[in-house]
Amino acid sequence: MDFYLLRFLSSCLFVFFLLPPLIPSANIGKLNQFRSELFDEPTSFNDTPPTEYFEVTKPIKLPHTKPCSYHILHHDFGYTYGESPVLADYVPPSNCPSHNFSKIVLEWKATCRGRQFDRIFGVWLGGVELLRSCTAEPRPTGIFWSVEKDITRYYSLLTKDQTLAVYLGNLIDRTYTGIYHVDIFIHFYPSEMKPNDYVSHSENLAFGNSFPADMVLPISRNLPLNDGLWFEIANSADTATKEFRIPLNAYRAVLEVYVSFHENDEFWYTNLPDEYLAANNLTSPGNGPFREVVATLDGEVVGAIWPFTVIYTGGVNPLLWRPITGIGSFDLPSYDIEITPFLGKMLDGHAHSLGFSVTNALNVWYIDANLHVWLDQKGDRTEGELLNYIRKPLVESQVSDFVGLDGTFWTRARRSISSTGWVKSSHGNITTSFAQDLSYNNTMVMGNDGNMQIVKQIILFNDTVHAKLPSSMDHLIGESNRNFSLYLYSDEVDQANGTYLSVSNLTLGFDETKSKSAEFGFSSSSLKNVQNGQGVMVVKKNLVVSGVGSTQQDYNFKSNEFCYFRNVSSSNYTIIHDTVGYSCPQRDRTYFGFGYNKIIHAV
Ligand SMILES: *[C@@H]1O[C@H](CO)[C@@H](O)[C@H](O)[C@H]1NC(C)=O
Ligand SMILES: *[C@@H]1O[C@H](CO)[C@@H](O)[C@H](O)[C@H]1NC(C)=O
Ligand SMILES: *[C@@H]1O[C@H](CO)[C@@H](O)[C@H](O)[C@H]1NC(C)=O
Ligand SMILES: *[C@@H]1O[C@H](CO)[C@@H](O)[C@H](O)[C@H]1NC(C)=O
Ligand SMILES: *[C@@H]1O[C@H](CO)[C@@H](O)[C@H](O)[C@H]1NC(C)=O
Ligand SMILES: *[C@@H]1O[C@H](CO)[C@@H](O)[C@H](O)[C@H]1NC(C)=O
Ligand SMILES: *[C@@H]1O[C@H](CO)[C@@H](O)[C@H](O)[C@H]1NC(C)=O
Ligand SMILES: *[C@@H]1O[C@H](CO)[C@@H](O)[C@H](O)[C@H]1NC(C)=O
Ligand SMILES: *[C@@H]1O[C@H](CO)[C@@H](O)[C@H](O)[C@H]1NC(C)=O
Ligand SMILES: *[C@@H]1O[C@H](CO)[C@@H](O)[C@H](O)[C@H]1NC(C)=O
Repeated sequence: MDFYLLRFLSSCLFVFFLLPPLIPSANIGKLNQFRSELFDEPTSFNDTPPTEYFEVTKPIKLPHTKPCSYHILHHDFGYTYGESPVLADYVPPSNCPSHNFSKIVLEWKATCRGRQFDRIFGVWLGGVELLRSCTAEPRPTGIFWSVEKDITRYYSLLTKDQTLAVYLGNLIDRTYTGIYHVDIFIHFYPSEMKPNDYVSHSENLAFGNSFPADMVLPISRNLPLNDGLWFEIANSADTATKEFRIPLNAYRAVLEVYVSFHENDEFWYTNLPDEYLAANNLTSPGNGPFREVVATLDGEVVGAIWPFTVIYTGGVNPLLWRPITGIGSFDLPSYDIEITPFLGKMLDGHAHSLGFSVTNALNVWYIDANLHVWLDQKGDRTEGELLNYIRKPLVESQVSDFVGLDGTFWTRARRSISSTGWVKSSHGNITTSFAQDLSYNNTMVMGNDGNMQIVKQIILFNDTVHAKLPSSMDHLIGESNRNFSLYLYSDEVDQANGTYLSVSNLTLGFDETKSKSAEFGFSSSSLKNVQNGQGVMVVKKNLVVSGVGSTQQDYNFKSNEFCYFRNVSSSNYTIIHDTVGYSCPQRDRTYFGFGYNKIIHAV
């Protein structure tokens, strides 16, 4: 069977469209023309075992108890595009000896064989999104993978009867034969504590203790529908809104937002400025490389998300992601916005609306959210007021320097949002502040008559939550500093005999430090997660004649609870090197040990 490459085929998205195989004289914004790709392998020998794909991530820290496990769904996702999500009745654990769980884990397992694109999918329980993910692209010899996700934060939802919904828009025909065979499990791990050790929720304050919310409200589209439950944002003027009502005794609220980008914005960070496209009569996706997801409450901005550049399993060069997939591709990050300072506005028993839009958006973004709400167990009425709200407008600047198809573009952006408000409950009068500080820096170079593109991008995304308790002078703090970095080099080298080489090198970095102080002490963690990839494809006309991809990943997680380290590399489907470690270096233990004093004295 011939190798071939189909241009313009969308992936990790539902819309399946094939435009004429047009190769422009210059291959401007190459990624934006390729979209996520499909690399087609010849059917090989039947004795080749299926390949396991995986995303490198730390293991979930589990209690030493035997889980009660439930198989909640089996489905074969064949022709599911534009159909209703697959539904199942969820009932909470009934035959488990314990009903106090300290960890709840969702497990997604899938197999596939044949030829298929990467498909985006979502898992919702009672309309609340539990997992946003992308499928792996199969091989003729078969693949399998699994995703495990800690879903303890959705505890309250899992104690009630619900409808589970899974949408994975797949298409099957004679060419695209891959059917995804999926099983979903939920594992409930009983707590190790004896009943007397429990601190009841009413005694315990949600700030800093990270126990799950008392309720989680879906900010998504309602069933029935023939699509995912996410909202679709098609352009910069689009706003998706949903009305909700919260109980009168709420004392904390956190909005968790899920985001994924597809089609013309799948590689938004490589999109060129419109002036360059216009000057060269090009129709590649434009609007420049900056995107911002904005969340509003009754029309007021409450937070912004500058998302991590997740690359799906067919993105840039599909051979890079076999078997190590891109950071976040199997478990897309969600983003939390503390909206407690605004709670006072919502405690009137009336409906309020949450809205989402995307600055500079092109078709299409899938966005929805979950509103986590903590309730006062000892009172039926809380009250509150917004004290201070500073929203500096987004500052975006763009500098271009180009002649014809070659040139350099600098895009910068900055934003800060902060809010302070008090909420009075049986816990007392607590004043909460939430601040976001974001900066964006993208440098893009076009060369080789527009065939070569180099993108360097850094997003710094800092959040802080302060809560001032009446009982003490302490501020309880949650802080996270994120650094999302990207380097992407792509070039096409004409070999003058009807073939050209498509070369791409990339570095993806997801660094995050978090710290939290609470009644029970101070905790902190740091993650450094970096992937390097080099891919080459030989393309003849529209056919990929051959190719190879290599990926190296260095994952380093440290916390005062545990550490995890993995250094793994692969080339052409084969793991070359793999080292896993669990021990914390001595100096880091000291560092994290000092954390407590350091932070307490700092405030
Ligand atoms: C679960 O914890 C509560 C206290 O939060 C306790 O009253 C109850 O007995 C525990 N249930 C079981 C089954 O251990
Ligand atoms: C772009 O198109 C216009 C109108 O068709 C033409 O006059 C101009 O020369 C073209 N520019 C380039 C760079 O091809
Ligand atoms: C709660 O504290 C804030 C800030 O100190 C104050 O402005 C507000 O009046 C207090 N609310 C009540 C009900 O005491
Ligand atoms: C975010 O925090 C880091 C580390 O503290 C700091 O270097 C950076 O300047 C901060 N960035 C912004 C935009 O606040
Ligand atoms: C932005 O990136 C450019 C090039 O990488 C660098 O020279 C500049 O210092 C960066 N600016 C900021 C504010 O990070
Ligand atoms: C963000 O990460 C990049 C790549 O690792 C690094 O060069 C840069 O210094 C980091 N910036 C900050 C503020 O940590
Ligand atoms: C085309 O040229 C390249 C570089 O000279 C060479 O490696 C390749 O084998 C040639 N391919 C064909 C099909 O002739
Ligand atoms: C791309 O990666 C290859 C292999 O590591 C390396 O030889 C080449 O110099 C890299 N090119 C660029 C522009 O980063
Ligand atoms: C990861 O492994 C490679 C190959 O052994 C090695 O060259 C590299 O230094 C390692 N990286 C780290 C951070 O240990
Ligand atoms: C990649 O591996 C396949 C077998 O899985 C082999 O046929 C092919 O030659 C390899 N390609 C390269 C460039 O090593």
